[in-house]
Amino acid sequence: MLAGVKFRNPVIAASGTFGFGLEYRQIAQKLGGIVTKAITLEPRAGNPMPRIAEVCGGIVNSVGLENPGIQRFKTEILPRLRNLKSRLIVNIAGSKTDEFVQIAEMLEEDQITALELNLSCPNVREGGVLLGQNPKLVKNLTSAVRKRTRKLLIVKLTANFVDPAVTARAAEDSGADAVTVINTLFGLVLDENGQPLLGGRTGGLSGPAIKPFALFCVDRVAAAVKIPVIGCGGIMNGQDAYEFLCAGAKMVQVGTANLITPDRSWKIVRELAVICRLKKSVQFKKVRKARCKK
Ligand code: SIN
Repeated sequence: MLAGVKFRNPVIAASGTFGFGLEYRQIAQKLGGIVTKAITLEPRAGNPMPRIAEVCGGIVNSVGLENPGIQRFKTEILPRLRNLKSRLIVNIAGSKTDEFVQIAEMLEEDQITALELNLSCPNVREGGVLLGQNPKLVKNLTSAVRKRTRKLLIVKLTANFVDPAVTARAAEDSGADAVTVINTLFGLVLDENGQPLLGGRTGGLSGPAIKPFALFCVDRVAAAVKIPVIGCGGIMNGQDAYEFLCAGAKMVQVGTANLITPDRSWKIVRELAVICRLKKSVQFKKVRKARCKK
């Protein structure tokens, strides 16, 4: 359950790592949900290639929010997702409050469970991380969208040069139902000549390299807000997912692991179920209580 909405399990495919759920539908069906690639008002071509670099412990991406825009999403993609059995969460991005509001108003279809506001993309000049670093902007944007949608409203936060506990509180105060913690961390990859390797020059680091920091952020945010936290950052297996739940997350998002093998999230669902059975979930409660006493 997330803010009163039932999910079949606590594992969600993170935005940008499962496309729109069309290619691996048989896997998408078995997850708690999938978050779509970010959708903007107008189509975006994204950043120049190359867009992904492998680094020690993860990857750095500089996709730049490539997407077909809200109109094509509604007419060409949404109808093909009609019978999806898992929860559909649409990640939305923009550079101004108005854009987020317009997109939210256009996504009233019943098949969509939640909107995830992307206030944390490190790969665009306007919007993205710049919005999520400023608690005032987080507040204004969240409350503007909240007024226009009755869907579950999730805010995806950044931890780049900002305390996510502060921005999570801003999101909570303005009507968010949940927060996703965290998006990728700023990264720069250089080639053998010391030149930027990625077409967008800098990018966002994800994968196991960020897991300890992501856990730290989840622990911190979960102690600061009452709304549920969705943990994200370097989850590669069931044990990782279990640790995020112990740190205070209510659900988890799996990202980079899906890019290695598309069925990794489903494997994590099964591994997590075994671990929870073994630990009988009692440990979660103990850990959470201990954290609350801090
Ligand atoms: C991108 O499209 O550049 C990545 C999306 C994100 O980090 O939110």
